[in-house]
Amino acid sequence: MADSIIGAPLDRVDGRLKVTGSARYTAEMPVEHVAYGYLVTSTIASGRIVRLDTAEAEKAPGVLLVMTPSNAMRLPEGGRAGVNPPQGRVLTLLQDERVHYNGQPIAVVVADTFEHARDAAALVRATYAPEPAVLDFQAALPSAYPPGPAQTLGQQPDSRRGDVDAALARSAVRVDAVYTTPYENHNPMEPHNSLAYWEASPGGDGGERLVVYDSTQGVWPCKRALAKTFGLPLERVRVVSYFIGGGFGSKGQPWSHVPLAAMAAKQLGRPVKLVLSRRQMFGPVGQRPNTHQHVVLGAAHDGSLLATRHESTSHTSAIEDWLESCALVTRSLYRSETCETKHRLVKLNLGTPTFMRAPGEATGMFALESALDELAYELGMDPVALRLKNYADVDPEGARPFSSKSLRQCYEEGARRFGWARRSMAPRSMRDGDMLVGWGMASCTRPARTAPASAIARLRPDGRAVVRVGSQDIGTGTYTIITQVAADALGLPVERVRLELGDSDFPEAPVSAGSMTAAAVGTAVHWACVAAREKAARTGLPAEALVTTGPGGRPLSPGAEEGQGQRHTQQGGESQPYSMHSFGAVFVEARVDPELGIIRIPRITGAYAAGRILNAKTARSQMLGAIVYALGQTLFEHTLVDPVTGRIANSDLAEYHVPSNADVGTIDVALIDEVDPHINAIGVKGLGELAMTGVAAAVANAVYHATGKRVRELPITLDKLL
Ligand code: MOS
Repeated sequence: MADSIIGAPLDRVDGRLKVTGSARYTAEMPVEHVAYGYLVTSTIASGRIVRLDTAEAEKAPGVLLVMTPSNAMRLPEGGRAGVNPPQGRVLTLLQDERVHYNGQPIAVVVADTFEHARDAAALVRATYAPEPAVLDFQAALPSAYPPGPAQTLGQQPDSRRGDVDAALARSAVRVDAVYTTPYENHNPMEPHNSLAYWEASPGGDGGERLVVYDSTQGVWPCKRALAKTFGLPLERVRVVSYFIGGGFGSKGQPWSHVPLAAMAAKQLGRPVKLVLSRRQMFGPVGQRPNTHQHVVLGAAHDGSLLATRHESTSHTSAIEDWLESCALVTRSLYRSETCETKHRLVKLNLGTPTFMRAPGEATGMFALESALDELAYELGMDPVALRLKNYADVDPEGARPFSSKSLRQCYEEGARRFGWARRSMAPRSMRDGDMLVGWGMASCTRPARTAPASAIARLRPDGRAVVRVGSQDIGTGTYTIITQVAADALGLPVERVRLELGDSDFPEAPVSAGSMTAAAVGTAVHWACVAAREKAARTGLPAEALVTTGPGGRPLSPGAEEGQGQRHTQQGGESQPYSMHSFGAVFVEARVDPELGIIRIPRITGAYAAGRILNAKTARSQMLGAIVYALGQTLFEHTLVDPVTGRIANSDLAEYHVPSNADVGTIDVALIDEVDPHINAIGVKGLGELAMTGVAAAVANAVYHATGKRVRELPITLDKLL
């Protein structure tokens, strides 16, 4: 029984709760005597607030508090104590009168109902002393500067392997092109929202504990950031998030509205619920920044890459450096004799950018994989054959072996299912009636990340088990897949295992980001369950075990667990000697109307290898979701900034286009069996973002094949084809 649990296409264990509406999201938590907060946001992009007239708002029906820089509580270090780049953001918490972007929170109105708060918020009048704002990314490019080392997720922002210029001089064929991707916003279905209250500290010492129900991708990171921001000991903060309606990176760390809800609750002595409007989600809660990417490739006649150069510039805000690390992927994907990468930043008066599904790869792979396609045409070589020619059997960066790599199988299986062999190479050579037909492909890859985590497993006398982790399910299926991991390790049917998540009172776990939850939380839960089971077998009694894993997924706590961990380590360990990545290949058919420029994508095939698959159904669902999200990136998504005011012009789902059902054709997903003996105890790499990579380039390549027109600027809209 237990053997078949891993990988089984189990229905979501929380499916019934969700479809019956009984899954409680943050804003639905039953808290008594709750008041409603509404953000007031700035209407200039740069400058200072000279006066905030709140008199009218204060007299409005139901208003309880108008919190502004004049009366808001003072926070340690001007509200910056929780800053921890790139994870902990510089927030704007009404500690001063500065305005850094249009849409920045400048006041909070709290009232007895949501409608009263929203109406009164419209009555707050701000007078500003405006200053010149920098809003044009292209024009700002000459001001680009290098990021600090913290901005590149622990890697160097620049890299160099060999002499690229010399290799280019020797190259028979070259590609030299600039690719751009636009400012985008995440738009999860559930808007950001927080419900905060202060309660008597459970310690009974007369102090207060802050409790926040928050729609967050990380209850523990949020708890840590709030504790620092308010100068509280960790045990004086609790963050709860049982269900999350999507985050995609935008809920990876608390933004200003979270402490603001807590500040208002403190000032009012009453719980405050603060929900952002859709418009308010364009600016104060992260974005994918503009990127400008210059790629140069040089190759020999046989297609061997001699030189690769990838220089990327992205924008950040006026208050913080946040980097879209587009060129990291270029260091490891192909065997190239020489390679140089560079990251730069420019400051704009916009909200601070952040991680957005496959940050770095979704954007960087558009440039790199488009350039590979351009090179294939320069060489007259099939795009798959070109990639196979430059297949990296070891990671060229540091020459480390991969813990596992099944990219070759992904190319083969994807091409077979798609029918790639029937493709004719020449642009505009395939038609269906009046429609131009194009087939394009791209590689997919992401690093397989993990992080320390802890879990407690408790075997009860009635033969059931309870497993608790301070992780969260952001909609990806964590409740389900981790239940499967626990059932497998405990040797119990899934019905006898209850997994509890979403509470920082449970053992600490990392942010659900970087597609690392399955690996990080799965490994901790696996070891906790193994330890509890062994203890129960030894003593013949119900048992419990708390296990904490280290950075590579090995248990740190003493006792039986450590023995397990060492055994595992001897099989290959989990980190340093290996380069760990997931891989895939995506094949796209585009149909373009030659007169109207309308693009349709009737079918996509993706073949992916990401270690062991925990649940065939939720895994496939992740890939489908990522491909659809990537279609949005490729064809529609583009946040438009008014060049004078810095106001977002399309800050709603009517004007900010994401794919609808009619935009999505057939998506065929193949998951390649992959055994990775090195990655961690459960063999899992994580896959939530993998399928987000490659799609944009594959579509652009298909559009080129259909039309002969190379679009190097996302989104690929019909005006660019006319
Ligand atoms: Mo995801 S962008 O790593 O939350």
